[in-house]
Amino acid sequence: MKSAFRISFLLAVLIFSNDFLFAQNAVIIPIETKDNALILQADKEGHLGITYFGKKLGSQSEYQLIASQSRQRDGNAGIYNSAYTPAGSWNVSEPALQITHHDGNKSLDLIYVSHKTAKENDHVSLTSIVLKDPVYAVEVTLNYKTYFKENVTEQWSVIKSAEKAGIMLEKYASANLYFIAKDYFLTHYNGTWAKEMNPEQEQLTAGIRVLDSKLGTRANLFQPPSFMLSFDKPATETEGKVLLGTLAWSGNFRMDFEVDSYHNLRLIAGINNYASEYPLASNQEFKTPSFIYTFSENGKGEASRNLHNWARKYRILDGEGSRLTLLNNWEATYFDFNEEKLSGLFKDGKKLGVDLFLLDDGWFANKYPRNNDRAGLGDWKENVKKLPNGIGYLVKEAKAAGIKFGIWVEPEMVNPKSELYEKHPDWVIKQPQRPEHYMRNQLPLDLSNPEVQNFVYGILDKLFTENPEIAYIKWDCNAITFNAYSAYLEKSKQKQSQLYLDYVKGLYKVLEKLRAKYPKVPMMLCSGGGGRVDYEALKYFTEFWPSDNTDPLERIFMQWEYSYFYPAITHSAHVTDWGKQPLKFRTDVAMMGKLGYDIVVSHLNEKDLQFSQQAVATYDAIKDVVWHGDLYRLVDPKENDFASLLFSTKNKDRAILFSYMTGNRNGAGSDTPFRLQGLDPAKKYKVKELNLYPETKTSIKEDQVYSGEFLMTVGFNPAVSARRASVIVEISDAH
Ligand code: DGJ
Repeated sequence: MKSAFRISFLLAVLIFSNDFLFAQNAVIIPIETKDNALILQADKEGHLGITYFGKKLGSQSEYQLIASQSRQRDGNAGIYNSAYTPAGSWNVSEPALQITHHDGNKSLDLIYVSHKTAKENDHVSLTSIVLKDPVYAVEVTLNYKTYFKENVTEQWSVIKSAEKAGIMLEKYASANLYFIAKDYFLTHYNGTWAKEMNPEQEQLTAGIRVLDSKLGTRANLFQPPSFMLSFDKPATETEGKVLLGTLAWSGNFRMDFEVDSYHNLRLIAGINNYASEYPLASNQEFKTPSFIYTFSENGKGEASRNLHNWARKYRILDGEGSRLTLLNNWEATYFDFNEEKLSGLFKDGKKLGVDLFLLDDGWFANKYPRNNDRAGLGDWKENVKKLPNGIGYLVKEAKAAGIKFGIWVEPEMVNPKSELYEKHPDWVIKQPQRPEHYMRNQLPLDLSNPEVQNFVYGILDKLFTENPEIAYIKWDCNAITFNAYSAYLEKSKQKQSQLYLDYVKGLYKVLEKLRAKYPKVPMMLCSGGGGRVDYEALKYFTEFWPSDNTDPLERIFMQWEYSYFYPAITHSAHVTDWGKQPLKFRTDVAMMGKLGYDIVVSHLNEKDLQFSQQAVATYDAIKDVVWHGDLYRLVDPKENDFASLLFSTKNKDRAILFSYMTGNRNGAGSDTPFRLQGLDPAKKYKVKELNLYPETKTSIKEDQVYSGEFLMTVGFNPAVSARRASVIVEISDAH
């Protein structure tokens, strides 16, 4: 109990205790970050509850007083606020942990035993709290890892049993939180292919609101495991109390938001237990994925910047590093290409000025050639008709053209029309007695099977071993899991209900092994768009594909929403032929993410080519601010006819302002200035419009100097209008 916070109570009342008698030497555990605190307190029976969540106090000793302020002490008190709600005993509300013991008994109680806080460094600490069942040999460790400066907490639990025989985990949440506020406003997201990340905000009312996925492989297709929760009233970008939360798990998830009978809010977040009871052998540990959250009293903008800072520094592979701009051939050729065509595209990429050429789907399979999406998936050998000289030749050709080479794979999937399926039908997830059900004519491979894990690892390992100069991987995944059944689990006498979890664990094993051997190669996480992204996957991937919908108008809205949770350095954003907007608009939108192209460069007219070449060079000059800077969302396209957002450097000497028209009624546009953020009021700035289309002029005066105070008080008008539908302005220190 190194940093234990034991307090002798003088108070006569202890919050949430059924008989509200005070406890001597009550254990109070503050989990603090720079601005916030989560206060846990054990009652006299040792049940650990949450007494406070919010802005931290100057003096820790006052946390003991919080309990005395509550009058919510009827028979339900002490149930709702549990720090990790056990099922089947005194506790009758929605559980965080539900198990069946080796003898079939389903009751569980969890009593505080000890806790300790270990400092990883000045900014990162881990508080671990041990709870035990007094009757059965079950132990749970609640872990709260805090990132002090970023106000981020990562929470997970570890479940262990020393019972004679194994136990069954029925529900096993990562985190259980409790909030006390006047009202709660939940923003969650819905979508489907090409329509990802539609936000909806609702006021929570009594009962349980569940956000979940049961889709397996492409778990996020209809809904991601990320949300915003405002307290008292809906938070804005700059005002209000708001929590941003997300589960770091690339599979089924479930989040229960329960407004209880006191109008307090319980949150239980973790893996979805749907069809997923999970056996735990004696003396083995079960570690849940992390639930990650940040809280701000100053609105969504600050909360998301904190999350970005945390993610770049501690989570995303090479999060503070660099990225490659690229030319992708998917929409330029689809499956129809050969060596000659590709060599031409390498030269086009070089002409454009991007760093890398990315060869997409269609390069493999011979017996059932991959000439469309109905065949070949699983047969990872170069198609000899299209590529008689193999990948090695392409890598060399690209190098000769002066561009790096990257390649697409979809290693978790198989087409029934493939040699792989013929050879290993038992490697495929499908019900033995039911008709197969496909999404995009394909099925997932059974990654719970170690042989399949080796196979998937082998695809990438072979590519890299034979072609060490491969500089980029796009990892796709285009089907959800229907008919969840594993021949491997059956044969090895394990439970079918392990499949959803063991799939994800198998995927992480493959990625772990890959990263051990190839730690640096940038990889894009793609899921037919679909936003298969979360903070566990981003330990292995450098970026993700937010959507196949690259219509820039749609991307403005989508990237806006993704940006609450993931920094721009991870948003792969390509200039394509989707949408009706001119090339400049499409390019300006892609430039607020990680820029790429998916167009036929040779079809560009002279001016478009000249503009694009300049745009790539301009992007090279501003990318550091976009990738590593602080994001301020200024004008919300959901509420206005245009969107505006700004990235500024940490020392506020440079900022890039992006503005885009999203509506066009009644001569819409920025008639008046709007306030900028993220600048230094005392600094003098000059402004300059970037990325102008050849032969167009700007109305923005370059010789005008403004104080940061002016720009943040009066504001600035980028003069965005139907005639100037997208505008990028650089704001830089005038000295
Ligand atoms: C879906 C991806 O989102 C696309 O970009 C492309 O890679 C195709 N799959 C290829 O089949």
